[in-house]
Amino acid sequence: MLVLEKNAITEEIEESIKLHGNNRSALIPILQDIQRKHSHISDFAQQEVARLLDIHPVEVYSVVSFYAFLNTKPKGRNIVRLCQTITCDLQGKAAIAKAIERELNCKFGETTQDKKFSLEFANCLGMCDQGPAMIVNDKVYSHLTPEKAVQILSNIK
Ligand code: FES
Repeated sequence: MLVLEKNAITEEIEESIKLHGNNRSALIPILQDIQRKHSHISDFAQQEVARLLDIHPVEVYSVVSFYAFLNTKPKGRNIVRLCQTITCDLQGKAAIAKAIERELNCKFGETTQDKKFSLEFANCLGMCDQGPAMIVNDKVYSHLTPEKAVQILSNIK
């Protein structure tokens, strides 16, 4: 009998299922595990999650595409999310975005060539009274100025 070698990602998903269970409520934790390891959730990984949880692939895809923190494409090692909602916008978001783009030579919506940073706009981060605000990975930065934002990213570089 022909034994097919399992893809590494399939084995990782099986490990996640052991940890989180194999029902629908485990879907997001499993997807987060994949994202943590691979910085995105490929089409193949989505299909494998659906197969192993015995749910429709569209259900997995709709969860992945709904949540901004889950990615279908590879991202940089550091994700910069600058708030674009009205309060931060009025407090100078555009100048901060411009300074970051100039510093990293990369536009919002893209990833730097060295894959160190991905730049994204986000909706309100709940820091409106301390705007403009951004999140770099899991850390929130407030009261930003263009200089402060560039300095924060330089420290990460
Ligand atoms: S509007 Fe930017 S944090 Fe709320």
